[in-house]
Formats: sequence, structure tokens, C-alpha cells
Amino acid sequence: MNSASSRENPQKMAYPKTLASIMASAGGLAMFLIIASLLLISHPIGSTVSSYFYGVDRTGKVDLFVTRNRTTVSEPSQINVSGNSNESSSELFLERGAKQSMDGSKNDEPRQSMDGSKNAETVDRKSTALDVLDGTKVQRNNRTEANLANSGCDLYQGQWVYDSTGPLYASDSCPVLSQMQNCQSNGRPDKEYQNWRWKPAQCDLPRFDAKRFLELMRGKTLAFIGDSVARNQMESLLCILWQVEEPKNRGNKKMQRYYFRSTSTMIVRIWSSWLVHQTSEPFGFAPAGVDKLFLDSPDERLMEHIPTFDVVVLSSGHWFAKQSVYILNNEIVGGQLWWPDKTKEMKINNIEAFGISVETIMNAMVQHPNYTGVTILRSYSPDHYEGGAWNTGGSCTGKEKPLLDSELVENGFTNIMHEKQVTGFNKGIKNQTNKSKAILMDITKVFSYRHDGHPGPYRSTDPNKVVKRGPDGRPPPQDCLHWCMPGPVDVWNEIVLEIIKREYESRLKGPS
Ligand SMILES: *[C@@H]1O[C@H](CO)[C@@H](O)[C@H](O)[C@H]1NC(C)=O
Ligand SMILES: *[C@@H]1O[C@H](CO)[C@@H](O)[C@H](O)[C@H]1NC(C)=O
Ligand SMILES: *[C@@H]1O[C@H](CO)[C@@H](O)[C@H](O)[C@H]1NC(C)=O
Ligand SMILES: *[C@@H]1O[C@H](CO)[C@@H](O)[C@H](O)[C@H]1NC(C)=O
Ligand SMILES: *[C@@H]1O[C@H](CO)[C@@H](O)[C@H](O)[C@H]1NC(C)=O
Ligand SMILES: *[C@@H]1O[C@H](CO)[C@@H](O)[C@H](O)[C@H]1NC(C)=O
Ligand SMILES: *[C@@H]1O[C@H](CO)[C@@H](O)[C@H](O)[C@H]1NC(C)=O
Repeated sequence: MNSASSRENPQKMAYPKTLASIMASAGGLAMFLIIASLLLISHPIGSTVSSYFYGVDRTGKVDLFVTRNRTTVSEPSQINVSGNSNESSSELFLERGAKQSMDGSKNDEPRQSMDGSKNAETVDRKSTALDVLDGTKVQRNNRTEANLANSGCDLYQGQWVYDSTGPLYASDSCPVLSQMQNCQSNGRPDKEYQNWRWKPAQCDLPRFDAKRFLELMRGKTLAFIGDSVARNQMESLLCILWQVEEPKNRGNKKMQRYYFRSTSTMIVRIWSSWLVHQTSEPFGFAPAGVDKLFLDSPDERLMEHIPTFDVVVLSSGHWFAKQSVYILNNEIVGGQLWWPDKTKEMKINNIEAFGISVETIMNAMVQHPNYTGVTILRSYSPDHYEGGAWNTGGSCTGKEKPLLDSELVENGFTNIMHEKQVTGFNKGIKNQTNKSKAILMDITKVFSYRHDGHPGPYRSTDPNKVVKRGPDGRPPPQDCLHWCMPGPVDVWNEIVLEIIKREYESRLKGPS
């Protein structure tokens, strides 16, 4: 793939500059030192120091920077996360799905967003407001940036409203539901998190109508492509559809596939951790073993199937916290948890790498000569490790309600990942042909309110699992990244259905 401007000069992007300007500001530096020391105090011995710190400038704006000075703070490659550490808790979150066979077997474990994805210590309320409706507190998300290129109302501005109708399926009514996300059967005591509906400000997001979905998708194939969060969403959709029809498992080694006979609808999943070409073969000065990502080449293992799909839902982001080497124009330009020559600066970091990868995959999708489908890029799924990162005491245990606006804590890492993703999306679709369509499903902000929607410590049926903090105050190992099923993740599929509805209805009407 030939490509776009950002790749020509990745150094121009962001960090060193932001760092310099913050460091230049005495206030910012003081704040940085305070926050850094707080972190050190709260996670003293043996714990890792996050590579990302959040400072607040005088206007209250959240700033994030990556320090490059190893004597000051650990750089990503020095930090034991995602596999470097031998702690059992970290092992829990490594997903080995990249090598998994796709024939319906589930050997992928939950994994977590890692270093840097901790909650920021700062709060930014500028774009939100609190509503009280009928005595029920709800949240309003006032998105300033409406980037849904479609007719109809903005689906991503609205509020979570309590709805006692209950979930779309029972957790024991769905054979494909991963045990790790089956929160109720794993003993999660509360249920209310299943009863919140997303209400866009200008319209309604209808409860998922499985028959309607299958009818709209008659003879068509919908593919979820990406990481474990894609699996989470696929299983949610299958569970919803299972309530009206039991599909046939037609999976093979390359992909999971479920076939709904009544309407000849196929639901597919393809694993691709980063959505770009990946190899563990040696490259340049990077040895065998460590994953190498070719940020300007889409993952060929998924691209070969693209023409057979009608709707594709893409999911990526969290793997950019994992160890890997970044390659652009056949040159090693950076790495995450990997950078042997400390005297040399990396040209790009993992956040920039993520943005470029999104641009690459979107560009490949919209310029594919034989693909006529709808590509939905589901934006970065926010995690909720409060008070630490996934491996440094972060926790979502005991969260039973969506956050109120007054409680929302902006997560600087999530925000910057989201920003890079949106930019990558927009750049990637610049040369869109009218063969296919690309839509950004911008759920990041909406779901940042749902700290109650994760399994937390309820990840298995093990009756002896730890679900409470220990005497030392350490929270139990937990998953605050994936989503309980049933749970908030089902809303993603309601949004997908709404997108499909709008898309197919506008096609029937013809171009306006
Ligand atoms: C988009 O099209 C323009 C003009 O045809 C071309 O110069 C540019 O390289 C293309 N960009 C991508 C990403 O394909
Ligand atoms: C980090 O990993 C290195 C080598 O893998 C090990 O020697 C060191 O003790 C680890 N540090 C922590 C804090 O786990
Ligand atoms: C890093 O910080 C230390 C101490 O603050 C300083 O002596 C050193 O010159 C810095 N190194 C770089 C590369 O900025
Ligand atoms: C890591 O854990 C495994 C299994 O518990 C153990 O066999 C291995 O020796 C450990 N490695 C290190 C470096 O501690
Ligand atoms: C949303 O934000 C915009 C600009 O920040 C503001 O003008 C508008 O009144 C806000 N709307 C609501 C409903 O809060
Ligand atoms: C597109 O389809 C044509 C005709 O079947 C085929 O020759 C070509 O290789 C396909 N291109 C891609 C990129 O799949
Ligand atoms: C799609 O593009 C082709 C050529 O690029 C053009 O002839 C056709 O009118 C376009 N169709 C629509 C619906 O815009």
C-alpha cells in the first residue's frame, strides 16, 4: 500500500514536543513530580511504574506525555508488563489468540490493556453535563465532534437511562458465551449493570430486534475482525441471535463462522491483533521471536477474505501496549517494550503506531477493488482500572452503576488512543471509492461511563477465586477491559444494527 502523509514524517507527531512544552512549564513539572511520587507511594516495591503520566496545566486541560529520559522514569521497554513479568496476575491477561485456531475453540484468554492505560489522575468535565430524569440519574455525553458520516441522529451523543426491561438474553441461554465474560455464572452478585439502555439525545436506539437483523442481513455475511474485544462483540451478537435461531457452526481453521439458515446469514470472526502485517521472523536488528508489525501493510490473512464480506466490524488498539517492533517503509522506527539501543530515539511510539495502523487498514478496506461492503470501525474500547494499571493494583471491583458526569475521570491514554484512531480513520478513507462504505462507530466516550460493565474479579467459576481486596489492600486479579455478557457490550450490536438499517435503507432510496 502506498500511503499517506503521516507516514512520511512520523516524528512530527506529538510527543517530544508536548513533553518539552510541559517540562517548560513550571506548573506542569511540579504537577508531574507530585503525581509521579504519588504513584510511587501507592505502588512501592516491585510494582512497575507506568510509562505514562498525566499532568494538568493551569487551564485544567489533561496533558499526557511519554518521557524519554530513562534516568527519570522507566520507558516502556524497561517495564515489566504484558509478559515480561512473571507474576501470575499478569499471565492471566495475556491472550494467545493470535495463534489460535478459529474452528470455534476458545483458547484465547482475556487480556488487559496494559501499561499506560491507567486512569488519569485528572478530571475533565468540559464536555459533559448531568441530567436528572424522573428521579433516575443519567449521564449525558455531549460530544463536540460528530463524525458519523450518515443520515439520522448522532448515535454517540446521549445518555445512559435505567431500563428495567432487562437484558436481551440470559447468561445461561447462550452456548458460545465465553466463561470469562459470563459474569452472572461466575458469581457476580449484582445485576443492575444489565439494565441500562443507551439513549441518543435526538432519537431512540431500539432494543435489538433479532428477526429484523437477520432479515436485513439475508444472504449476507458480517465479520468481526480484530482482537479479543472483537470476540466479545461477536459473542454478544451470537447470543442475541441465538434467542430466535440456533446457528450452525461452520468454522474452520482460519475463521469462526456461524450460519443462520433461515436467512442464509453468516457471522464470522477473524483474529488479527493489530490489523496490520505481522511476523516474528528476524528483521534488521530485531531478532526472531519478538513480533514485528509492518504498519503500512494491512494484515494479508484478513484481506484475502474481505471481498466475501458485506459488513465488517474492526476492533483494535489494546495490543499496542504489548511488546512489538514497529516497521514503516521497511525501516525499524520504534518498538513497545522493545528498543535495544537506548542511545537512539524511537521515531514513533505505540500510540502513533496505532494511528498509522488504523490508517493502513482503513485505506486498504476502502480501496479494495473487489469489496463492496460496509466497514465499521468500532472505536477504542475504554477500560476501567481505577487506582492503577491492570497489573499495578487497578480495580473495577464493586462498581455497580454507570458513572455520573461528576464522577467521570478522563483516561489520558484512552483519550489519546481514541484521538489517533479517529485521525487514522479520517486519513485512511480519504481516497474512498464509492464501491464500499466506511463508518466510524464512536463508542469510546459513551462507554467510558460504564465502569460497571466489566467482569472485574468474576472471571471464572472457580469457587475459591479471590473477589475482595486482600489484607494489604491489594485488589484481586481482575478484568476491567472486556465486557460482561449480557451487559453493555450488547449495545454495540444495537448500534451496528442501526448502522446497517440506515445503510441499507439509504441504498434502497438511492443516492440523494
Ligand atoms: C489518494 O489519491 C491521491 C490522488 O489520486 C494520491 O496522490 C494519493 O497518493 C492517494 N493516497 C492514498 C493513501 O492512496
Ligand atoms: C522485570 O523483569 C526482569 C527480567 O525479566 C526481572 O529481572 C525484574 O526483577 C522484573 N522486575 C519487576 C519489578 O518485576
Ligand atoms: C535525564 O535526566 C537526568 C537527570 O535529571 C539528566 O542528568 C540527563 O542529562 C537526562 N538525560 C537526557 C537524555 O535528557
Ligand atoms: C516464571 O514462572 C514459571 C511458572 O510459574 C516458572 O517455571 C519460571 O521459572 C518463572 N520464571 C522466572 C524468570 O521467574
Ligand atoms: C454541548 O456542547 C456545546 C459546546 O461545548 C454547547 O454549546 C452545548 O450547549 C452543549 N449541549 C448540551 C446539551 O450540553
Ligand atoms: C479482484 O477480482 C479480480 C477478478 O476476480 C481478481 O483478478 C483480482 O485478483 C482481485 N483483486 C483482489 C485484490 O482481490
Ligand atoms: C461511482 O463512481 C463511478 C466512477 O468513479 C461513477 O461513474 C458513479 O456515478 C459513482 N456512483 C455514485 C452512486 O456516486
